[in-house]
Amino acid sequence: MSMRTQVGIIGAGPAGLMLSLLLHREGIDSIVLESRSREEIESTIRAGVLEQGTVDLMTEMGLAERMQREGAIHHGIELRFDGTGHRIDFDTLTDGRGIMLYPQHEVIKDCVAARLNQGGHILFNVEEVQLFDVSSNQPRIRFVHQQQQIDLQCDFIAGCDGFHGVSRSSIPVEVQTVFSRSYPFGWLGILMQAPPSSQELIYTYSARGFALVSTRSPELQRMYIQCDPQDDIANWSDEMILEELQARLATKDNWQLRLGPITQKSILAMRSFVIEPMQYGRLFLAGDAAHIVPPTGAKGLNLAVADVRHLSRALVVYYKQDRTDLLEAYSATCLRRVWRAEHFSWWMTSMLHRFPDDDTFQQRMQRSQLEYTVRSRAASASLAENYVGLPFDW
Ligand code: FAD
Ligand code: DHB
Repeated sequence: MSMRTQVGIIGAGPAGLMLSLLLHREGIDSIVLESRSREEIESTIRAGVLEQGTVDLMTEMGLAERMQREGAIHHGIELRFDGTGHRIDFDTLTDGRGIMLYPQHEVIKDCVAARLNQGGHILFNVEEVQLFDVSSNQPRIRFVHQQQQIDLQCDFIAGCDGFHGVSRSSIPVEVQTVFSRSYPFGWLGILMQAPPSSQELIYTYSARGFALVSTRSPELQRMYIQCDPQDDIANWSDEMILEELQARLATKDNWQLRLGPITQKSILAMRSFVIEPMQYGRLFLAGDAAHIVPPTGAKGLNLAVADVRHLSRALVVYYKQDRTDLLEAYSATCLRRVWRAEHFSWWMTSMLHRFPDDDTFQQRMQRSQLEYTVRSRAASASLAENYVGLPFDW
C-alpha cells in the first residue's frame, strides 16, 4: 500500500510532535511514525526543565493550559559546594527570563492530544522503518503498520527518532563528521514520594560526587546522584541511595532532605555527541537524532524544540514563497545553538562532577570555577543566560 504526505516525520518525541503541530498551523501536511505505543511514550520519565523559549512556544501554540496549572515557574537555582548554598537569581541576571518545571512525558501527552484533536496522523507501533531516495526530490519511508507494509511518499523527511533511531544512518559516512565524548560517570535518577525539600533546584558538588535535587509536583520529587555508568541499579538499595543523597547534600547549617518512599530508580549513561551536517538531501535531522548533551544543563528537550522551530520556518518559506534558502541554512543555523548547548552542558558537567582520575590540582580548579561562578556577577549572569536559554534566533 502507498500513502503520500508533504513531510514524513520519524519519531513522536518532543521534536517530531512539535514539528507536526508547527507545520499544521501553517497548513502543511505531515504523518508521524512512532515505533513505540502511545502509552509507552506518554509514561517514559525523562527531562523536567523547560527553557523560557520552549514555554513561550507552547503558549503560542495553545499547548500551555495544563502546564500553566500543573507546572512550576522557577526564578533561580542553587549551586551548593563546601556545605554552603549559593543562589543564582535569574530575575536579576537575565532580562526576566525563567524556567518551567514540567515533565517531558506531560509535554508529550499535551502534544499527542492536540495533534490527534486536529485530526492529525500519528501511527504508533510502526516497525521496520527504512528510508529511501533521500537525496532525490521524492524521498520515501517504508514501514510496517498493523502487519501491512506501507510506502510513504514525501517531499521531505524529518528524522526525529532520537539517538537510537534509524534516520541518521541515511547520511553517507563520506559527508558526515561525528564529534563525541563519553563521560566516566552516569546519573542514578529516582522519583520519591515526599514534599519538596527546596523551592528551587539544587546542583551540588561534593567530595562524594555530584547530586541534584529537582521536583515533579508538591508530592513527587526527582533526584539524581553521580554513579558508575556500568553499575547495576540492583546494587543500590533505597537506603543506600537516600544515605548517599543526604551525605552529598549535607550543609554546614544542617539542611535536611525530606524523605519518602522511592517509587522509581534507574541509571543513565552520559554522552556528548554531534553529527554535522544535520541535513542530507531531503532528510533533515532534529533533536537527539543529531545531537546529545549530558543532562547537567537540562538542554536536551529544549534543543530538540529549537531545531524543529527552525525546520518548520524553513519548510513554510519553501511551500509559501518557493524559497530554499532557509532549508539550505538549516544545519548551520541549528548547529550554532547546538554547540553553545554542548559547551554549556559539558562545562556544567565538568564543574560539578568528580572524575575518577582527578588529582588535587584538578579539584582546586573546579572549586575555583565554582567560587568564581557564584561570586562574580558576570560569571553568574553567563550561567543564568545559558540555563534559561538563549533566544531562538540567537
Ligand atoms: P526522543 O525523545 O528520543 O524521541 C524519539 C522518538 O523516536 C521516540 O519516541 C522513539 O521511540 C522513536 N523512534 C526511535 N527509533 C524509531 C524508529 N526507527 N522508527 C520510529 N520511531 C522511532 N534531557 C534533559 O534535559 N534532562 C533530563 O533529565 C533528561 N533525562 C533523560 C533521560 C533519558 C533516559 C534519556 C534517554 C534522555 C534524557 N534527556 C534529558 C534528554 C531528553 O529527554 C531528550 O533530549 C529529548 O527527549 C529529545 O527529544 P527528541 O524528540 O529529539 O527524541
Ligand atoms: C532535571 C533534569 C536535569 O537534567 C536537570 O539538569 C535538571 C532537572 C529533572 O529531571 O527534573
